[in-house]
Amino acid sequence: MILDNKKYYIITYGCQMNLHDSEKLAGTLEELGAKPAESEKDADVIVFNTCCIRDNAEKKAEGNIGALKGIKRKNKDLIIAVCGCMTQQKGRAESLVKKFPFIDIVFGTHNLHEFKELLLKRIDKRKKAVSVYDKEGDIIEDGRTHRTSYPNAWVNISYGCNNFCTYCIVPYVRGRERSRSEEDILAECKSLIEAGYKEITLLGQNVNSYGKDLENRSFARLIEKVSELDGDFRLRFMTNHPKDLTEDLVVALSKSKKACKSIHLPIQAGSDRILSLMNRKYTREDYLNKIELLRKYIPDIAITTDIMVGFPTETEEDFSDTMDIVKKVGFSGAFTFIYSKRSGTPAEKMEGQIPASVSKSRIMRLIDLQNSINREDSKRYLGKTVEILCEGYDEKKKKYLGRDTYGRMAYFKADESLVGRFVNVKITETGGISLLGELVGVK
Ligand code: SAH
Ligand code: SF4
Ligand code: F3S
Repeated sequence: MILDNKKYYIITYGCQMNLHDSEKLAGTLEELGAKPAESEKDADVIVFNTCCIRDNAEKKAEGNIGALKGIKRKNKDLIIAVCGCMTQQKGRAESLVKKFPFIDIVFGTHNLHEFKELLLKRIDKRKKAVSVYDKEGDIIEDGRTHRTSYPNAWVNISYGCNNFCTYCIVPYVRGRERSRSEEDILAECKSLIEAGYKEITLLGQNVNSYGKDLENRSFARLIEKVSELDGDFRLRFMTNHPKDLTEDLVVALSKSKKACKSIHLPIQAGSDRILSLMNRKYTREDYLNKIELLRKYIPDIAITTDIMVGFPTETEEDFSDTMDIVKKVGFSGAFTFIYSKRSGTPAEKMEGQIPASVSKSRIMRLIDLQNSINREDSKRYLGKTVEILCEGYDEKKKKYLGRDTYGRMAYFKADESLVGRFVNVKITETGGISLLGELVGVK
């Protein structure tokens, strides 16, 4: 095969969606005979799968691509490919090639499946291969995937987003929302479970609107169907949009024997004025009602969130509404972000952009608050034994790690044979959000 004895290295930025896309790119490379390299230095093909959700994600990718200039000068045969959300932006492929002329291949999110062709073109004809589609194509089902996240497996259920939150670039670089067929999703889940995967994570920018473009399909129904599959596995999903979270879904989750007791429900802000400017289509009261609904059916459900500070015109009062709702809900974890201006989005043109120093001070206060909630919440774990899916080894902590049904990460001493097994861990120490414990049993 054309890449026999060659090695590849993929660098991924951004979200789970991108990480899973990289598994598909790895599938293509493996199909052509290549094997994973230990690092960039001993790779023959380097792929940058980029993200553009915030300015720092783009800067990081550009910095890392730029750093390859020297290596490429020494090794003319090295192939450098750049893809992902960043390249899908208007005019970006051209500007990247101009800035980094040593890039060999560029493609976008809409033509991920063309990677093989572009690679062959570059190798056969020794020509640069740049191709980015303006419009999303049909969903392509035949690609090979080289999974790297055992015992977890990601499964796409929908692509793209129709929500157009005013700050967000995703709808522009991932296209309109398209649902995969229920049959294809179930067939993939079934084969993953048969292959020994223990955790399935269903992926979509807004999983709650799954099936709106299909007949008689919904996310609640999909949860029921996946939960009916035989096997000992856990079911997770992300991300949810509060406006589309229905009672039917919450009921389906509460009845499911597979669904984990955790949900990621991005709130973004606690002020109605800011939520409206963001085009989120819910109020703080609507959000609190959804929390109540979740806790009515699944009282101990862990709720995590995404929060942004420094959206245009955000006042100290708006920000205190965010702090207040964070206290009220008691999130089990929060990803916090400083608003970053994205070119082509409505918020880019809004008056009242917030100075970086103000946003920084707000995010620090928010992080402090959430950390103290995490610390307090962790205390209830002390002395308890929890069921953990052992996911792998942490080089830094020199311990094995895994999560409980609530998504809480625990570290403990174990051995390689336990990766992919459900184990009981007695929690002996709690830090901020992570737990330390001792292995007391294997299921
Ligand atoms: N579709 C998902 C995830 C989108 S990106 C969802 O709607 O929840 C993940 C998070 O990045 C968002 O929830 C938001 O908090 C943050 N984000 C998106 N655009 C951003 C921007 N321009 N600046 C800062 N944070 C942003
Ligand atoms: Fe972006 Fe909003 Fe879509 Fe999430 S729901 S991807 S934040 S536009
Ligand atoms: Fe994900 Fe970043 Fe694209 S968050 S969808 S990789 S812009």
